[in-house]
Amino acid sequence: LRIRLAVKPLAGKRVVITAGPTREPLDPVRFVSNRSSGKMGYALAATAAELGAAVTLVSGPTALPDPVAVDTVRVETAEEMLDAVQERAADADLFVGCAAVSDHKPAERLDRKRKGKGGFALELTPNPDILAAVAALDNGPVTLGFAAETHDALAHGREKRAAKGADWLAVNDVTEADAGFEADTNRVTLLGPDGEETLPFGTKHEVARALLARIAPRLA
Ligand code: CTP
Ligand code: CA
Repeated sequence: LRIRLAVKPLAGKRVVITAGPTREPLDPVRFVSNRSSGKMGYALAATAAELGAAVTLVSGPTALPDPVAVDTVRVETAEEMLDAVQERAADADLFVGCAAVSDHKPAERLDRKRKGKGGFALELTPNPDILAAVAALDNGPVTLGFAAETHDALAHGREKRAAKGADWLAVNDVTEADAGFEADTNRVTLLGPDGEETLPFGTKHEVARALLARIAPRLA
């Protein structure tokens, strides 16, 4: 007699994940954006699906294929990302903000291409904070944010977790070897309700599994 135990710690859970950069257009051919390959968010989406969750991935423009068994919604701007998240987050058990959301957008978006000669000043206005908006929902999902830092990573991560009201925050120092934007590996410190833990260095899929292994038991 062979008994196979399928342990699916996220079975029955709904997970919404943002990933990739956003693009904020100046005109039909130019945009303001952030560095982000999307790899960490896509690894989280694929892993959450493997663990049994119903996953929606709200992704900015990336070069990556849609993860298997994940409902992938493609957006461009931060406001489109916020709309797509707000349609889905209230019913979710877990929200993961992994996107490199552009903090600003051009104050004005031209209908026609700006001609290239000469310099010009660019006025930027703030974008909405998607993670903070989800964390502020009444009866909203548990929230996991990310902070990619270049210095004083832990101090900035602690401040961000508090300021945004996120339950969990994964901090990484993007200047460390093999933990940056286009890398396939990562090293994060997870700040959460139980304290702080530096997770083992590994591939972004391994880091995704380690993060979800800690958070899954804490979902309602
Ligand atoms: N985030 C978001 N919406 C924004 C900006 C950030 O949802 N407009 C989320 C990111 O997806 C990430 C977390 O907030 O989960 C932290 O993003 P980060 O850019 O590190 O934080 P900021 O508060 O924008 O701080 P900074 O000034 O360092 O960019
Ligand atoms: Ca930011």
